[in-house]
Amino acid sequence: MEKNFKRTLITTALPYANGPVHIGHLAGVYVPADIYARYLRLKGEDVIMIGGSDEHGVPITIKARKEGVTPQDIVDRYHTIIKDSMKGLGISFDIYSRTTSDIHNATASEFFRRLYDNGQFEVKTSLQPYDAEAGEFLADRYVKGTCPHCGNEDAYGDQCEACGSSLNTTDLINPRSMLTSSPVSWKETSHWYLPLDKWQERLSNWILKDHTEWKSNVYGQCKSWLDMGLQPRAVSRDLNWGVPVPVEGAEGKVLYVWFDAPIGYISNTKELLPDTWERYWKDPETRMIHFIGKDNIVFHCIVFPAMLMAYGDGFNLPDNVPANEFLNLEGDKISTSRNWAVWLHEYLVDFPGKQDVLRYVLTANAPETKDNDFTWTDFQARNNNELVAILGNFVNRAIVLTHKYFDGRMPQAGTLEPVDEALTADIKRIKEQLSQNLDTFHFREALKDAMELARIGNKYLQETEPWKVAKTDMDRVATILNLAINLCADIAVAFEPFMPFMAEKLCKMLSIDMPRWTDLGNGNLVAPGTALGQPELLFEKIDDAAIQAQLQRLDRIKKENQIKNFRPEPQAPDVDFDTFMKADLRVGTVLECTKVPKADKLLKFLIDDGMQKRTIVSGIAKHYDPADLVGKQVCFIANLPPRKLKGIESQGMILSAVNADGSLVVISPSANVVPGAKIS
Ligand code: 2FM
Ligand code: ZN
Repeated sequence: MEKNFKRTLITTALPYANGPVHIGHLAGVYVPADIYARYLRLKGEDVIMIGGSDEHGVPITIKARKEGVTPQDIVDRYHTIIKDSMKGLGISFDIYSRTTSDIHNATASEFFRRLYDNGQFEVKTSLQPYDAEAGEFLADRYVKGTCPHCGNEDAYGDQCEACGSSLNTTDLINPRSMLTSSPVSWKETSHWYLPLDKWQERLSNWILKDHTEWKSNVYGQCKSWLDMGLQPRAVSRDLNWGVPVPVEGAEGKVLYVWFDAPIGYISNTKELLPDTWERYWKDPETRMIHFIGKDNIVFHCIVFPAMLMAYGDGFNLPDNVPANEFLNLEGDKISTSRNWAVWLHEYLVDFPGKQDVLRYVLTANAPETKDNDFTWTDFQARNNNELVAILGNFVNRAIVLTHKYFDGRMPQAGTLEPVDEALTADIKRIKEQLSQNLDTFHFREALKDAMELARIGNKYLQETEPWKVAKTDMDRVATILNLAINLCADIAVAFEPFMPFMAEKLCKMLSIDMPRWTDLGNGNLVAPGTALGQPELLFEKIDDAAIQAQLQRLDRIKKENQIKNFRPEPQAPDVDFDTFMKADLRVGTVLECTKVPKADKLLKFLIDDGMQKRTIVSGIAKHYDPADLVGKQVCFIANLPPRKLKGIESQGMILSAVNADGSLVVISPSANVVPGAKIS
């Protein structure tokens, strides 16, 4: 049932402060949340948008240990980078705080304590991996061992990165501690568990019956968890980084990061509104929307609501959780550890003043219903063919024409003709559709609607041809340009949630304040007589060189990763010495080297082997410019039977090493030798 709400609390997943944010975070969470918050503000609604860094958890301690610094150093570094870059992109948080703040520590501590005092936890004892030498329990990520599936000796306690298998620490062969490299021992430890099973029925009713309108990916994931039957979940860990468990005898234990992180939404609201925060969390007339990525669904739809139910005291549950799927980059999964990402702080340096282009492309490609791909060529095409050619073009034409015919002053409209009425009706229709799509979190569609305004603007000018009419009827031109300039103002407000920088610039050019959402389509946003500013281009073309630079960077990263992750092939079975000695390996000097016509892999060599000139055909054309090989010495097998390749008789085989990225590197002696020298 549709409820009427008085205000909206928007939360955005708190990103881990163990790295900067990338386009995947933006497309999945922050850009959609910002679109929604800006839209509600334009409608004059009471809305707050809460953000902050998630500064606890094992990955942060691992990064700190690797760098020889403290976890606090790590989170200080990344919190600043994240906060600044989000601001740079215009993400309009009402607060962006952090989970190492005092207020968060106190809030999370109190939350746990109340559940503890009310008997909401179960205590369970289990055997956990332990490093006896260091005297510390080990998180899964702190244990390495041999993968039972592929034999990789450096598999982690939760996953093998070589074969991708999910693991339990108990699956590893010869598990060892990453702290001291000593073998893992097992030790009993007790933890507090939140009995999710106790909330199963209430959660089922609330989600599966009352929230059938949730996105199918969210609803489906919740249903499958609920169908499997919920189990108690540990909410504490043996770790020295986090919010200490506020119970006597719990030394060395902290709250599990997924217990304290969502409480961060509450702490940050308290920090923003110390006196009125409860209105946003407990008044039933407030609705709460969680913007998250798909990997966070269970925590926001099941675990956190169960925590809020257990806490009692009238906390609201989320009204909607419009979680997105994942964004890939050039066909591969985005990964912080593999540096396979477009980092926001780097984008802002590489493309200054182009925040809106990224916001536009990420919204147009938002992974709303399925994983989606970001490619640099699509980024360029959307900028050049849509933002420049459609949106920028319409606004520029309208303003330039007004300068030309009316000295830059907004003309007064006269009697409307059918073409003008049609335009006005179209704007109203588009506004309705746009609002409807924004209200239901369909931001990709909403962006298309907004773009439709620019398209109909271009069509209108094309149909009405004010530059021709100007020869005979200036009153008519006044009407056309009045409508066109008003449409520019509609465009400013319609696009404000998506591209706030452009919208602000456009308002300045139109000499107006940002209109309200209700004004959109009302036809009187720019008063007649208003002196417009000089037309400035809203967007400029992005050239191939800028795109190539990004693609080259990704290429370099891909190669670095291939080298880092290279694992030599297992050794071949033994070969007996006499057999090996039958191969006649020699060194020769390349006299000529040319491409074999109609064979993109083959090079034809003429080699001085000390006795004769020998022809060898080799499949390395993709890896060498033939001219670079002339004069070089190469190693080859001399006594293979001749073989015809593309009609050329090859008398041997040139030896190459296969590099991690699959590239071939010709083997040469480390100093020049006489042609024909035997290799032994
Ligand atoms: O997945 C993540 O990046 C988590 N740091 C999200 C936490 S969301 C909330 F609970 F704070
Ligand atoms: Zn493996």
